[in-house]
Amino acid sequence: MMTIECKGISKYYGKGENRFQALKDVNLKLFAGQLTLLVGPSGSGKTTLLSILHTILTPDEGDLFILGHHVSEMNEKEKAQFRSENMGVIFQALYLIPSLSVLENTILPLIIKKEHEEGAKKKGIEILKKLNLGKKIYSAPKELSRGQQQRVAIARALITDPKIIMCDEPTSALDEKAGLEFMTILRDHALQSNQTVVVVTHDHRIFPFGDRIININDGLVKENNE
Ligand SMILES: Nc1ncnc2c1ncn2[C@@H]1O[C@H](COP(=O)(O)OP(=O)(O)OP(=O)(O)O)[C@@H](O)[C@H]1O
Ligand SMILES: [Mg+2]
Repeated sequence: MMTIECKGISKYYGKGENRFQALKDVNLKLFAGQLTLLVGPSGSGKTTLLSILHTILTPDEGDLFILGHHVSEMNEKEKAQFRSENMGVIFQALYLIPSLSVLENTILPLIIKKEHEEGAKKKGIEILKKLNLGKKIYSAPKELSRGQQQRVAIARALITDPKIIMCDEPTSALDEKAGLEFMTILRDHALQSNQTVVVVTHDHRIFPFGDRIININDGLVKENNE
């Protein structure tokens, strides 16, 4: 099932002489149950494209459809609600909140969705145990290794069971073992739950995890097998 469609998406930064086209007429379809890797050199437009798919950045041209919604027609409040209901994200900087426990960080998206705390905690404990963090539930993030912190970020992204997951360079701070472990968890979960997963990466070690590899160069998108 197609879940995301970009039609003629362009994005410009700056004004006048400094105007710069970061994305050039991007046409792209993404499907449920697939892990798509978005690969390209630094400055090629990966984060820009991911931010547009995440609906936090608005394209200057073109149309974006996600889960049957025409995103260009939604206002900021509707987009925020849409993100909270349908999207999980993992950034390179994990944005774990230092004053909250591992469990509290994990269930934050449920609290934002106004779910009851007791039920949210139950779900949180369940997913943390699955990710082998059962012994760290009440720890502070700083008491965890980088790989463990990354797994908390995964737990937080998966806890709402979102239809769409987006990750920007999720393995760049991890060693090989932790990086492969991260991708294994992400891929297994995505396939089981029929999610649409988009991962921006430079890391060739994780290329084998992609059902599709999309290349981006100077703002131009090309499917690997085209
Ligand atoms: N807010 C901004 N204002 C002006 N130019 C920007 C802005 N954000 C990005 N750019 C420019 O747009 C281009 C694409 O940036 P983007 O962050 O999407 O690249 P990227 O592929 O994610 O790179 P990296 O691998 O280094 O993260 C770059 O040339 C960048 O300098
Ligand atoms: Mg980037």
